[in-house]
Amino acid sequence: MRYALISDIHANLPALEAVLDHIGGQSGVGATYHLGDLVGYAPWPDDTVSLLRELRIHGVAGNYDSTVAADYKHCGCRYEDPRQEELSHISYDWTRQHVSTVTKEFLAGLPFRIDLRPNGGHHAGPQVILVHGTPTLNTLYWTEDRPDDFCLKMAGHAHAKAGDVIAFGHTHKPWHRAIQGIHFVNTGSVGRPKDGDWRAGYVLLRVGEGPVSVEFVRVEYDLERAMAAIRQSELPDDFAEYLRAGGESATAA
Ligand SMILES: [Fe+2]
Repeated sequence: MRYALISDIHANLPALEAVLDHIGGQSGVGATYHLGDLVGYAPWPDDTVSLLRELRIHGVAGNYDSTVAADYKHCGCRYEDPRQEELSHISYDWTRQHVSTVTKEFLAGLPFRIDLRPNGGHHAGPQVILVHGTPTLNTLYWTEDRPDDFCLKMAGHAHAKAGDVIAFGHTHKPWHRAIQGIHFVNTGSVGRPKDGDWRAGYVLLRVGEGPVSVEFVRVEYDLERAMAAIRQSELPDDFAEYLRAGGESATAA
């Protein structure tokens, strides 16, 4: 079974459209799932949710989705300096003011985790576990430098075993490694990469018969359209520059 996994779209409609178009051109993709953070930082939160609903692309709740849905006091995002914190709050307030009631209700209904069995539930495995951050919290950052012990602890929380895959996003930086036969896959971000590459990122995952294979894909999209829309909105212009820089060297979180 081949899956397309898309995460951290963050209301960047041009990036989402380009990724979905690219997935449409792949052969043998049985299903596409999102790993949350549908909204925040860009001006198309309702359109992003509408498109995913229209295409029946299911997925899990990111921290941005669940905090917006719950009217929480902040988005559960990490910031490294006061300017990042200020920008983060502006984005969060803007998003809360601009999502429709329908979108908010949809975000509230997203599950925390989805389990897939590529060979069917009548087999014990393998399984693919989809979460946004970690199996414990969608706000916890699972970065590549986390030690093996941390990964195995999370695998324990998820009841994952050798041959299984745990896929997640949240950090906006893609990586993959296998420890004791368990695959840990950070899918990166569709709409707000932070690894210095502005292109939208997603993962093609093959699980079932044969070895697990993980392919990181990058897709060019209409960056200028996204940047212009951010500038025309009340969102900070910093967010437009952030997209162009692929997160690195820009100031916004
Ligand atoms: Fe995110």
